[in-house]
Amino acid sequence: MTLRDSRGEPVSTSDPSLITALEAAHEELLHYRGDPVGMIETVLEDHPDFVMGHVFKAAVLTQAMETRIYDCMLDAVRSAEALWSAANERERGHIRAIRQWVDGDFYSAVEAWDAVLVEHPRDLLALQLAHLSDVLLGDTVNQRDRVARVLHAWDESVPGYNFVLGFHSFGLEECGDYGRAEEAGRRAVAMDPADSYSIHAVAHVLEMMGRQEGGIWWLTSRGEDWHHGNFANHLWWHLSLYHVDLCQYDRVFEIFDKHLQSDGLSHDKYEELDAAALLWRLKMLDIDVNGRWTRLADKWAPAAEDTLYAFNDVHAMMTFAADARGDLMAKVLDANERYVHSQGDSNVAMTREVGLPFCRAIAAFAKGDYDEAVDLLHPIRYRTAKLGGSHAQRDVIHLTLIEAALRCGRHKLARALISERTELKPTSPQNWLLAARAFAGCQDDHRAAAANAKAQSLLLSGRAAREVA
Ligand SMILES: [Fe+2]
Repeated sequence: MTLRDSRGEPVSTSDPSLITALEAAHEELLHYRGDPVGMIETVLEDHPDFVMGHVFKAAVLTQAMETRIYDCMLDAVRSAEALWSAANERERGHIRAIRQWVDGDFYSAVEAWDAVLVEHPRDLLALQLAHLSDVLLGDTVNQRDRVARVLHAWDESVPGYNFVLGFHSFGLEECGDYGRAEEAGRRAVAMDPADSYSIHAVAHVLEMMGRQEGGIWWLTSRGEDWHHGNFANHLWWHLSLYHVDLCQYDRVFEIFDKHLQSDGLSHDKYEELDAAALLWRLKMLDIDVNGRWTRLADKWAPAAEDTLYAFNDVHAMMTFAADARGDLMAKVLDANERYVHSQGDSNVAMTREVGLPFCRAIAAFAKGDYDEAVDLLHPIRYRTAKLGGSHAQRDVIHLTLIEAALRCGRHKLARALISERTELKPTSPQNWLLAARAFAGCQDDHRAAAANAKAQSLLLSGRAAREVA
């Protein structure tokens, strides 16, 4: 028997309470809070033939990108596949997508979810998974356009519309359409203040536009809406980026120590990823972080040979390099070299084209061979989207390239790359401080002084604005 969910999509069940329970778990997932997988597992204990229950569990687990949850994900997929004959076409589309994902063909998985969306544009689970997969795969155009293709079926009368606006906001931001991105994101948050993904999308806009004071205000003024959710680590990281740009390092360390180095492993790697990304930025600024790398390296150590997601591996590599863990660095490199020669899944291309060159560049940087780091990073400079994640996250690659160029005396290259940055984000004090170093390296003392003055002016105007506020 088929019933309809709150958005009118068909669900194979004769029990309306199962749809209610499924939607409750999905609400938690969309809000990045609670334990959506645990909630659906409780439902499945009493209703093992609930197709969408198994689909939901397996689909959520696909996004974890960690070997330690792989068996659990596989069990859920097999349970869903065993119910194939009882599933409707929409549910079969999900099962196809998840199977493709488990088999390592992420691109086909996304296409399978997209096929579901053509027939069922209000399938919010399919949209969410396809969108998050687009982020994971670095498909910036579809982060915007896959969402746009379903907008015809949505308006404020459809439950969950704010989440659709949030996905679209993020896609617009990644495509550089900051004005429309901000409008969509702010509208979503106005509809649902606890929509942390939409809060996050606006935070990205403010980061990319160099509106640091606005970003700090945006996140801190609505802290109660995201502090306790599963997305909090990442939003703390975003908050710390504004402070890094403003050279407010005491605040950065305060955020790191309170929110980015918990005792256990995070369930989704966000904390470890963001902690590594933040400390590496501080390393590029030559700021002493005391023993923080050591604790983080211990957390990354079990994942040294995962080779499941290149994005994770480069962050593991940063951590091992910064903490001088030569044995673990060798493990990451050996595992990735074996992996790209023996496997053919979607992550291989990400690893071969961006992940592995960046890992090698990190190793070169760590041993002081900055020339080699530049030679490894410069050719991949404009292909980094293939690593997945956001512009803000991948900026760590560009910062590493620039710092390596400055340290090995390739000042003209550094000057060119930094000129690009100051053009894209002229309100960033850190960009002008970098520019000052590059001009000084080029013996252009006049422009070096002007760039330094620009940085100081931006820092002082921000301080003045805070004092007025
Ligand atoms: Fe982000």
